[in-house]
Amino acid sequence: MRILVTGARGKVGAATIDRLLSAGHEVTAVDRLPPVYERAGPVRYVQADLTDAGHAAAVLPGHDGVVHTAAIPSPVKNPPHEIFANNLMATFHTLEAAERSGVGRFVHLSSETVPGFCYPKRYFHARYAPIDEGHPIAPQDTYALTKWFGEQLMDAAVARSDITAVSIRPTWVQWEGNIERNVGPIVRARGADESASFWSYVVVDDLAELIASAVTGDVIGHEVLYAAAADTANGLPLHDLVRRHFGDEVELRPVPRPDASGISCAKAEKLFGWTPQRSWRDLLDAEGRLLPEARDRLAGGATAVQRGLAAIS
Ligand SMILES: NC(=O)c1ccc[n+]([C@@H]2O[C@H](COP(=O)([O-])OP(=O)(O)OC[C@H]3O[C@@H](n4cnc5c(N)ncnc54)[C@H](O)[C@@H]3O)[C@@H](O)[C@H]2O)c1
Repeated sequence: MRILVTGARGKVGAATIDRLLSAGHEVTAVDRLPPVYERAGPVRYVQADLTDAGHAAAVLPGHDGVVHTAAIPSPVKNPPHEIFANNLMATFHTLEAAERSGVGRFVHLSSETVPGFCYPKRYFHARYAPIDEGHPIAPQDTYALTKWFGEQLMDAAVARSDITAVSIRPTWVQWEGNIERNVGPIVRARGADESASFWSYVVVDDLAELIASAVTGDVIGHEVLYAAAADTANGLPLHDLVRRHFGDEVELRPVPRPDASGISCAKAEKLFGWTPQRSWRDLLDAEGRLLPEARDRLAGGATAVQRGLAAIS
């Protein structure tokens, strides 16, 4: 397939490009960051700011599918109006251009934050564990709102046209380059720290595999699904962690294993046969430090993210 990946210079975009190339797809990479004006690599890279309708209209034609990862990926490091304008309009213009260009499949990178309890101004928590796609949605922060509105844009597009869509809600995305900083302290806290998304995380290689299935697999209309690793980020039993930090206020639902993730990926498995294969234990030791083999991959530029970035440079 001819697949366009937006946000190609980011960790999810780059790992996705690596996965799609290894599956034999023809990839176009798009990001608002400048290109390198040298001999082209295996992937065509086009600089485009997707908040500009003209940029989106210029890059979309000629593709069978689009993976839209371009966004500001957090509510806390940019002014809210910038997050809102960037994320929502980039999704709007990319989707409009895809629809007009006859692109068949739109994979929209949404977020675990959509239900609202990750960054609320007025505190609330998830109602049950593990969280799944049926959880009520009530976002207060701008980032989660843009992702939720993005999901609604997908609903509208599949209703009015032949395009089909998948919104993937990844939890916290990890790779060799950030997991020691992000998950290391959770491992060392040994359950003492609270977590709004119930100690969930996902390794980017697994997420890229789900994205590849979502862009190529059979879909009717618009599907929304979570992506998380199979286990908790500290290896402790989910039900014990939730009881310890949330008392009886959170309903405990059955889990496939005691240390199951706080986010269920049963829907992704049902739709695409996807199950996460990677755990933090494949990258970190019991003290949360990067394992030597992961450190070597990073030093050698051999991670999925680095291979994807190398392909577009
Ligand atoms: N990182 C996470 O933990 C996480 C969790 C859930 C969802 N997500 C979502 O996954 C997607 C990818 O996240 P990431 O971690 O790779 O982020 P990232 O910041 O590493 O990469 C995002 C890329 O998008 C590009 N971009 C932003 N706005 C753009 C625009 N208007 N036009 C063109 N390019 C633009 C940036 O230049 C950057 O290269 C995002 O949509 C994010 O919201 C990320």
